[in-house]
Amino acid sequence: MLPIRRLALSALLLAGAASASQAIQPADMEAKPRVQVDYALHCQGCHLPDGRGMAGKVPDLRGSLGRFFEVPGGRAYLVQVPGVATSRLDDEGTARLLNWLVSQMGPPQTCRPAPFTTEEVQGLRRNWLRKARPVRDALMQQIPAATQPRKRSSLPACPA
Ligand code: HEC
Repeated sequence: MLPIRRLALSALLLAGAASASQAIQPADMEAKPRVQVDYALHCQGCHLPDGRGMAGKVPDLRGSLGRFFEVPGGRAYLVQVPGVATSRLDDEGTARLLNWLVSQMGPPQTCRPAPFTTEEVQGLRRNWLRKARPVRDALMQQIPAATQPRKRSSLPACPA
């Protein structure tokens, strides 16, 4: 990587990570898997390194992200939410990042999701949500209350 790009990246990282405890430091950049660097650059400024967000402003992704798969439209919401759909990551990088986030933040409890694909992200993000809150609230109301853990292999496929 050229020094000038490295500098720009470092500045971005530091800006995004100002309030974060375990932020990825510039020296870690080469060693971290690509998804983690993508998350650090494009998402953690708002969602924080561990996904906890900011109470009342940015939702906590931990445990709840996967649950959107359990209701119709939730899967599309995860792509069409502005922070995801309008990021500078390309479609392939976005699909890779979302699939990683699901594994990190907790999978759905009642169904098995298919991984996001590049084509799917490409189609969905064009119609990104100008007003995400009402859509989120409606989805949240439909998400079933926590269920008994079941064997993952016996779960049905998630709705679209
Ligand atoms: C400018 C702040 C900001 C950035 C940057 C951002 N988000 Fe978000 N994100 C939000 C807010 C706020 C919401 C709640 C919905 C809304 O109002 O947009 C949200 C919602 C989400 C959701 C839906 C989960 C839920 O509980 O509603 C996901 C998934 C998500 N963001 C992932 C990401 C990813 C991945 C990135 C990086 C590519 C990212 N976000 C970048 C602020 C941000």
